[in-house]
Amino acid sequence: MSKTESIHGTWASRWVFIFAAAGSAVGLGNIWKFPYIVGENGGGAFVLVYLACILMVGVPVMMGEVLIGRRARQSPVNALHELATETGVDTRWSLVGLMGVLAGFLIFSFYSVVAGWVLHYVALSGSGQMVDLGQEQAGDLFNGLLADPSTLFLWHSLFVALVMTVVAGGVINGLERATRLLMPALFALLVVLMGYSSTTGQFGNAWNFLFGFDFGALSWDGVLVALGHAFFTLSLGMGAIMAYGSYMPKKASIGGAVLTIAALDTLVALMSGLVIFPIVFATQMDPGAGPGLMFVTLPVAFSQMPGGQIIGFMFFVLVALAALSSAISLVEPAVAWLVERKGFGRLKSCALIGALVWLLGIGALGSFNFLSDFEPFGKNIFDLLDFVTANLLLPLGGICVALFVGWRLKQSISADELAISNPLLFKVWYALIRFVAPVAIGFIFLQNL
Ligand code: PFF
Repeated sequence: MSKTESIHGTWASRWVFIFAAAGSAVGLGNIWKFPYIVGENGGGAFVLVYLACILMVGVPVMMGEVLIGRRARQSPVNALHELATETGVDTRWSLVGLMGVLAGFLIFSFYSVVAGWVLHYVALSGSGQMVDLGQEQAGDLFNGLLADPSTLFLWHSLFVALVMTVVAGGVINGLERATRLLMPALFALLVVLMGYSSTTGQFGNAWNFLFGFDFGALSWDGVLVALGHAFFTLSLGMGAIMAYGSYMPKKASIGGAVLTIAALDTLVALMSGLVIFPIVFATQMDPGAGPGLMFVTLPVAFSQMPGGQIIGFMFFVLVALAALSSAISLVEPAVAWLVERKGFGRLKSCALIGALVWLLGIGALGSFNFLSDFEPFGKNIFDLLDFVTANLLLPLGGICVALFVGWRLKQSISADELAISNPLLFKVWYALIRFVAPVAIGFIFLQNL
């Protein structure tokens, strides 16, 4: 039976749900990762494949996640268990929720390290220490930070504490309140920054770089990165959106909300590209600089531009806010599950989960210094965590959600929960989640084996 309330609370309105989910979706993935993987994978063709993945796979799977969450009104592990029971299929589908909890921990561990870099750069730019940087100095600054475990440790710990404080507040006083504060600030900062970038004279080149299609530059590996990123950026395949869906008001339409969330997320990714690349081009830097793009290339650019001090500071504040609103959704499924299963209070659950992700993060930050020689599978821990989560666990979680909703869950449950009045639209969604999503994900996996 469909329930009307979760024990954890319900968002005040459908817009709070949309902005909370958009807060989860919009994060380091949009501002830090998207521009540099576009740069590494040759620009426009990659962007096109990425957009196709969002629309054909991301949106239908997100609708699947939200409908599961809202129907069961529980944390992902228990929601899958309950719907499997209701529909009379194997309850081991709840293992998908457990895999999601694991993916959330793993993502959090490197996410929090990058967020720590961002906080460090907020402090640097805010205290006027980023003036007259040359390429080399900026490189030294960033490499110096990576080589310094105690500074990394400090910022990582601060970030974990911030996230856990919000989550400990609960759905209404923690997550919803943070959403109301962070999201308007984030959009306002982004608009100001884009206005600034458009004055650099390189806006047209940045536009061509993002939207000029050169398929020669794209490989199957690039296609997998595009698919993995579609999941990562929409926070799919690990239960974050499912958990947020379980707090969604009953009357709100799922399809409309999901389309809005995906559109907002895509908008922010493209806008971030349009903020970053004009600055990169105006200062003749390399768009394919990799993960350091934001931490080396941009600070040099900011320090050379008129008004760059304050713009740089605003930029890093923007990224920090985006990282915070995403990170809370990485741990919410695990926290909610502990509350449901063990009957712990929020505070106790947050303390436990916080301690765990804090410890894991120490391993991730060590990959740049005391653990740098440890390279299982030819990658350091940090790169491995990124690869395993985004390119394997999230698409795998996504395929499972698609198979569960498309092939196991009673169609009438989906129809009832989605309440799409146009029968054709429902059929389109059903075909996408039943056939297109699993086949596309499976095919891209196979190509890369
Ligand atoms: N969507 C976030 C980003 O783009 O930065 C990252 C993320 C958050 C992934 C929450 C997964 C998740 F559950």
